[in-house]
Amino acid sequence: MMEFRIAFIGFGVVGQGLAEILVEQKQMLKERYDFDFKVVAISDTMKGSVFDAQGFDLEKLLSIVKETGKIEDYPEGIKGWDSLKTITDSTANLILEVAWTDLKTGEPAITHVKTALKNKKHVVLTNKGPIALAVKELLALAEENNVEMRFEGTVLSGTPALNLGLYNLAGSGITKAKGIVNGTTNYILTEMEKGMDYESALKQAQELGYAEADPTADVEGYDALGKIVILANTVMGANLSKDEPPCEGITKITAEDITKAKAEGFRWKLIAGAEIRADGSVEAYVRPEKIPLNHPLANIMGPTNALTYTTKYLGDVTIVGPGAGRTPTGYALLADILDINRIVKE
Ligand code: HSE
Repeated sequence: MMEFRIAFIGFGVVGQGLAEILVEQKQMLKERYDFDFKVVAISDTMKGSVFDAQGFDLEKLLSIVKETGKIEDYPEGIKGWDSLKTITDSTANLILEVAWTDLKTGEPAITHVKTALKNKKHVVLTNKGPIALAVKELLALAEENNVEMRFEGTVLSGTPALNLGLYNLAGSGITKAKGIVNGTTNYILTEMEKGMDYESALKQAQELGYAEADPTADVEGYDALGKIVILANTVMGANLSKDEPPCEGITKITAEDITKAKAEGFRWKLIAGAEIRADGSVEAYVRPEKIPLNHPLANIMGPTNALTYTTKYLGDVTIVGPGAGRTPTGYALLADILDINRIVKE
């Protein structure tokens, strides 16, 4: 089995979420999954960077970051490398792209991923930008360079919605995917129903680590749009650009709308959907919908998300689980890494 030498590009909530799991489970991961690793580099635009070919004492590094907010306070290693130098010059053979998501340009993450793949390093991402904008090109580049790229955490965080569609439901004849795919907005709608005002609910979602760095992406629906485009393009064979599907967020939904819907037996939810049309093309959308209270999606509350695949041979298959947050998204990286560990032998 290979030894993974990991570099984190970005070390915010998601990166730290994974690092905490790695510290906690190192022994079990070795014994149960034959997974051996060291973390050799971290580069973050705000917190600084460090490279040490020996590998870090991850627990110590995490506590330093928590205390001072500065990776460069770690006593060992080479400091000051930017993200690209970290990717190309460090001894890492696995790059984790967990920097911030920019759904407009995908940068700088697309460049990070391309650089890593061209340097024959495996890549795992939770960053939605590169996958929503350039997944096919990046997968082709991975293949060309004989390395792996995984991105489960881009949709429903660590809840295996994407891999369910890609692997477990392969050949099932998926015609439709529909659900609640954004944790922040579902949390806000849930809290507003309990009486909290919109601003406070959004602030809480940010504090809990659910929201994007720029939460406009959540509340205007762009994050959900990115995810449904990723699903359509990877699971349903579509070729959608993220600007094509109609997209509306939750900013027009008032506390009165929520109360009124409830009295009528409905609940507002931000729904994302994609469906294969008769001519084979795929249609996608994001919009708030009033869901009858007896419908399963109406009872998905807080940061929990759900996705239903409609298939030819199984009918509807639904997966429900965390849609956002530090540990669930950190775990998504681990699931992908273990997947690569299963198939890569050197
Ligand atoms: N901001 C995203 C959400 C994070 O709230 O769902 C997970 O992709």
